[in-house]
Amino acid sequence: MNDSSKQVNRMLPFTRPSIDEETIDAVAEVLRSGWLASGPKVAQLEAELSSYFGGRPVRTQTSATAGLEMALLACGIGKGDEVITPALSFVATANVIVRVGARPVFVDVGLDSRNIDLDQVAAAITPRTRAILPVHFAGLPVDMERLYAIAGRHRLRVIEDAAHAIGSAWRGRRIGSFGDLVVFSFHPNKNITTIEGGAISGGSPEELRAIELHRWHGQVKSGPDGFDTLLAGGKYNLSDVAAAVGLGQLKRLEEFNARRRALVARYFELWAADPPLRLPERGDAGHSWHVFTPLLPLAQLRISRREFIESMKERGIGVGVHYPAIHLFSAYRALGYREGQFPNAERIGRETVTLPLFPAMELHEVERVVQAVNAIVRGAQRMNPQVSVVIPAFNEEEGLPLLFERLYPALDALGRSYEVVFVDDGSSDASVAELREQFQRRPDVTRVVLLARNAGQHLAILAAFAQARGTYMITLDADLQNPPEEIARLIEAMDAGADYVGTIRKSRQDVLWRRAASRLMNRVRERTTSIRITDQGCMLRGYHRSVVDAVNHCTEMSTYVPALAFTFARHPVEIEVAHAERTVGQSKYSLYRLIRLNFDLMTGFSVAPLQFFSMAGGVIALISLILVVYLAIRRLIVGPEAEGVFTLFGVAFFLIGVALIGLGVVGEYVGRIYEQVRQRPRYLVAAVLEQGDPGATERLAQAGAVQLPAPLTPAVRVRGASE
Ligand SMILES: Cc1ncc(COP(=O)(O)O)c(C=O)c1O
Repeated sequence: MNDSSKQVNRMLPFTRPSIDEETIDAVAEVLRSGWLASGPKVAQLEAELSSYFGGRPVRTQTSATAGLEMALLACGIGKGDEVITPALSFVATANVIVRVGARPVFVDVGLDSRNIDLDQVAAAITPRTRAILPVHFAGLPVDMERLYAIAGRHRLRVIEDAAHAIGSAWRGRRIGSFGDLVVFSFHPNKNITTIEGGAISGGSPEELRAIELHRWHGQVKSGPDGFDTLLAGGKYNLSDVAAAVGLGQLKRLEEFNARRRALVARYFELWAADPPLRLPERGDAGHSWHVFTPLLPLAQLRISRREFIESMKERGIGVGVHYPAIHLFSAYRALGYREGQFPNAERIGRETVTLPLFPAMELHEVERVVQAVNAIVRGAQRMNPQVSVVIPAFNEEEGLPLLFERLYPALDALGRSYEVVFVDDGSSDASVAELREQFQRRPDVTRVVLLARNAGQHLAILAAFAQARGTYMITLDADLQNPPEEIARLIEAMDAGADYVGTIRKSRQDVLWRRAASRLMNRVRERTTSIRITDQGCMLRGYHRSVVDAVNHCTEMSTYVPALAFTFARHPVEIEVAHAERTVGQSKYSLYRLIRLNFDLMTGFSVAPLQFFSMAGGVIALISLILVVYLAIRRLIVGPEAEGVFTLFGVAFFLIGVALIGLGVVGEYVGRIYEQVRQRPRYLVAAVLEQGDPGATERLAQAGAVQLPAPLTPAVRVRGASE
């Protein structure tokens, strides 16, 4: 065999016709014959196709588009009629319906089969429905039994778009050898070609006559002049040149399709386990594999489909797209179709890629494609590590180098996939520069979120939670008071089922009174809020993804993350961890802050303080009443007394004090509501440094620019506004 397609060709296209020398000679012969338009070769091709389809009538035409349109016209479909068709196909499938004046009624397709969802077809039938126009997508036959059962029940005509399906078989019966009107395409990309061309198999005698009229000016031989024109037909007849190509191709159809099946089998074999793409439905031996169209897992990738296609092209491999969802094209939106109506078609439209598949392709070229896809997809996979370590940093330039030195070896030793998400909380020292350098050193496992201005530790943690992708999230202070080596113990607790792991510092060197004070505060707080956080100053905590997701859904303006997490956790635990004194920098945990934190906690998680004040008010009012009654009685018995006036002053001042405290507590709650209703962004993300992102280099440069203080330029990714 001497195929022109076997020429050395470094670029591997996604498709390529195979035209052999014999066919080229046959075309030359036609060209020399003097008869180029429809003639003996067309008649021969129609006869051979007819015998291929078991003796059914076959009419060729200039394209499948013309064939589909003429089939619709032959069925008498026009204005006011509806035709049910899939939302995913080449647009020709729907265009022809519009062209004859009818309305295409779309239904969704199977995500893996890409074929019309027959469950939805019945629901789409109305009194105006005249036909169903399904597509045997990629050559995978539609369930013909169900299709024709539905059509029969509702007296609908079926026009099969078999553009992809020459050589396909449904349960051993060739597509085109049965059914109503079956339309094939011989475009150069199809399993066999006539350059451009198509054919209709089947149809009643009346329909066949109508097709012939529409195909050639509506003319028939009759009358005194030998011709009459019965209707204003078109001109869609195939040429003998094209038919000569088709005859050469038809001879090799079975060989071509067998080759396609073998190549696809190799794809499936190489992707038998853990394929990086979602593979299409495999079907059986009746699948003619016009195209091989897996779906890209775009949600898990940092790259777009366009970038994937570009990367494949750089590796010398062509990739196609078959097809965008039809209903989202402007012409169909104009008919009232919208996003969200056909989720599978829309997802396929977004994610589908057509990988190389054509008869002249070699098996080793499948391996080449698979390797390229694996490399691109795996390389673009978003980091989805098991563990995310979240570290807020605010003016930690002294501590960070030491932290890096100990943190990464400790995490590497875990033997688990991990990422470190640093959040710079608007530092004014060199922290940002240090974090950037660390990102450059370990871009594989490091991401840096740069807040535009200081948001406070808890919001900084929330900003990181919004970015972190791990299943286990560990928060850690940048100051090394919690040894990073202790992270392993938190993970152990989470492996054992804990979804919140609080920690208590073992060898805390706090003075006695401070310990006593914090114990007292804890007890009061635990009583009012039922939140158990024994050691509030210890940032080392573990959260399961489910708890973090719940936290991320809370939109409170200011919150104490561990307390919020505790309320969502179903299996909270506390463990003791080692502790070291801060060697550098300033502690941010003064006693005042601790008191404030507990106050916030109580008012943030409970209305008990308000209830307490109501009750205290009641008790004080009662005592005052008793006092007044007592004084009145004394006045009656003892007579007027002046001495008690200072006591009364004292009582009055006490009551004023109590009232002011009460006002303060009410104010606290009102203040919280005020902050909430203003709905200002909780924090602003100036930039995120992460690997593999197409804009990473650019953003890296920007990060340099945001060192002091972060400008919110449009070139920087600003995602934090309402996060
Ligand atoms: C499903 C489907 N229907 C119809 C057509 C139209 O075929 P033709 O180019 O022969 O008009 C195509 C062509 O790609 C197709 O894929």
